[in-house]
Amino acid sequence: MENFTYYAPTYFVFGKDQESTAGTYVKRFGGSKVLIHYGGGSVVRSSLLDRVKASLAGEGIPYVELGGVHPNPRSGLVYEGIELCKKEQIDFILAVGGGSVIDSSKAIAAGSVYDGDFWDFYQGKPVTKALPVGTVLTIAAAGSEGSPDSVITYEDGQFKRGASGEALRPAFSILNPALTQTLPAYQSACGITDIMAHLFERYFTNTKEVEVTDRMIEGLLLTMVHEGPRVIADPNNYDARANIMWAGMMAHNNSCGVGRGQDWASHDIEHELSAQYDCAHGAGLAVVFPAWMEYNIDHDVMRFAQVATRVWGCSMDFANPKKTALEGIARFRAFLRSIGMPQTFEELGAKGEDIPAMAHKAVYGNGRSGSIGGFVSLSEDDVANIYRKML
Ligand code: NZQ
Ligand code: ZN
Repeated sequence: MENFTYYAPTYFVFGKDQESTAGTYVKRFGGSKVLIHYGGGSVVRSSLLDRVKASLAGEGIPYVELGGVHPNPRSGLVYEGIELCKKEQIDFILAVGGGSVIDSSKAIAAGSVYDGDFWDFYQGKPVTKALPVGTVLTIAAAGSEGSPDSVITYEDGQFKRGASGEALRPAFSILNPALTQTLPAYQSACGITDIMAHLFERYFTNTKEVEVTDRMIEGLLLTMVHEGPRVIADPNNYDARANIMWAGMMAHNNSCGVGRGQDWASHDIEHELSAQYDCAHGAGLAVVFPAWMEYNIDHDVMRFAQVATRVWGCSMDFANPKKTALEGIARFRAFLRSIGMPQTFEELGAKGEDIPAMAHKAVYGNGRSGSIGGFVSLSEDDVANIYRKML
């Protein structure tokens, strides 16, 4: 295991009706004037927004609102939010929604206390200072409710990139699994896929002797394999929703990723797809990840065989471990298909003729140096080959 430091100070409030405590926690974490940030309307339709506003009003906390966050959030609304925060002297941002809303809130939080262009943070500058952000989560997926990351698409060039920094970890996150019961099955499945992808990005490592995090990841993957289909079959299954919601947080607050190298090429490869075609991030990952696995299987066949036996229930073929490894990937594909996820470029609305440009952008765009991936380092040609496997 490698040396590490780990500090994840988000205060979690989990369970039914907990959104009514939003005002209490804003006050506890020092908010005196709040920006409530939300998306395209699901929180209005479910009246969640009204309940959150009532909670703030109950604590006597004034607020302004900014809705309209698009899935795969855009830079334009971030600039608008930064202006608004400065003008209104906002000192706390409350994100009510999914990963896109939380990421947009984090970008506004960092940009509001920075003299330069907020996009600097999405070109590699670490975020060391930001307004505090609280979240009321409505979808188990991105893990942004506990992560120090934010992903934004810069509209001039459609660059989808991440920023990071401990200052971006939410001060508190309210997780009520019942709020996710209104999700369409497709969005639930996208979330399940993203959560599993966050686990695989950490699982595929070159670091040896990482039994504790290997076993944590496998446990969370097994949970997703068990609970995912239950949620798709019955969207109102509170207990399955609850297990998935906590797994989604655990998958990405990096408790499973400390002390080990990680990969993240599949995310970079996917981000080009959701930037270009505006597909859902989880759906893009469902197409990318199995292709990435097949392409890189020979790098460490035993690691692929390990997950095949421990998570996908394959029996180990000691004479031919690659056969076991491939069987595991096939079972992963079948699982994704069973929850309604796409498997090809065509199903995503992506076009083969765009592959060379996307592969170039994935490894060189926005200041990148010509390769991506920590487990296997991929060149522009490798990335193009992986895209071609998805046709
Ligand atoms: O906008 P509204 O109307 O709220 O609708 C949303 C949106 O259309 C809808 N939705 C959310 N909760 C709902 C609901 N509909 C009904 N009932 C509910 N309870 O679902 C759609 C998707 O929402 P979004 O926030 O985009 O989903 P998700 O949480 O998957 O976030 C995706 C974004 O997070 C980024 C992705 O790249 C993508 O841009 N990621 C962020 C990460 C991070 N910050 O750490 C890591 C991830 O790897 C990921 O890259
Ligand atoms: Zn993701």
